Amino acid sequence: MINLIAGSSSEDLGKSISKKLKANFVKSELKIFPDGECKITLKGNLSKNKTVIVQSIYPPVDSNLVQALALVSKAKETSNEVIVVAPYLGYARQDREFLPGEIVSMKVLGQLFKGAGASKIIVVDIHSKIGLKHFKIKTENVSAIYDLVSYFQKLRIKNPLIISPDQGGKERAKQFAQIYDSDYIALNKQRDRKTGKVKIKTEGLNQVQGRNVIIVDDMISTGGSIIKATKFLKKQKCKRVFVACTHALLINDAERKIKKSGVSKVVSTNSIPGKTSVVDISKTIVKAIK
Ligand code: R5P
Repeated sequence: MINLIAGSSSEDLGKSISKKLKANFVKSELKIFPDGECKITLKGNLSKNKTVIVQSIYPPVDSNLVQALALVSKAKETSNEVIVVAPYLGYARQDREFLPGEIVSMKVLGQLFKGAGASKIIVVDIHSKIGLKHFKIKTENVSAIYDLVSYFQKLRIKNPLIISPDQGGKERAKQFAQIYDSDYIALNKQRDRKTGKVKIKTEGLNQVQGRNVIIVDDMISTGGSIIKATKFLKKQKCKRVFVACTHALLINDAERKIKKSGVSKVVSTNSIPGKTSVVDISKTIVKAIK
């Protein structure tokens, strides 16, 4: 029987994956000390068999990362194989040296997970596959696009058009559109590497007028990209704006700002638990583990 430990950031998702795998579920108890240090206690025994650790690395990113590493290290003492499931992997956007002197954090993560004893990491819709090249263990990037599309099919949106807010997400939007049976376009977004501010550089678009649009992105952090895209699409006289994303971090009051910009509905997966995470990806993750 496989062992499964759900870390503190992914308790519900871990439980639901464990149920589907019929695994030996081992609860982990987390205590955070006043200085921010964490202490984890396992509430059950692991067998020698494979152990799966489910822990998404969202804010507080560094704490959730250390917890994942601690769980791997502990599991490796007993288990012959340790697999990490980090549906959202913080630091994934730091996959290369954009400006001179920048540390490629994904390389550091790769070293840390290998050093702790992980033999494989499974992630969901990672920002870019380049990040996983820094890992010297097995990696698998699972797609949540079928789960997201199937949710949107139930909404029966009339005359839909799929939009990627940037060229980097074009393939994702294309895939969404193909499964959803619609057409798509990708906007031109530019981000200032120093300030982080984004601008839409696309010229006027005829095909947006009168269409209900679904903006598809891998993640929402501050909401800046979605807000800029929504304002642009509204200027092009689109009808309603929906957002589909895998990972909704929604930092600070991002959700309120997104709604204020004119978005009718934000839909995300339970890679990060929250108000918008209505799409369950446990089945898709189980397929990757098996
Ligand atoms: C960037 O290219 C990503 O795909 C997301 O669009 C971006 O990271 C979202 O960040 P924010 O919500 O802060 O604009």
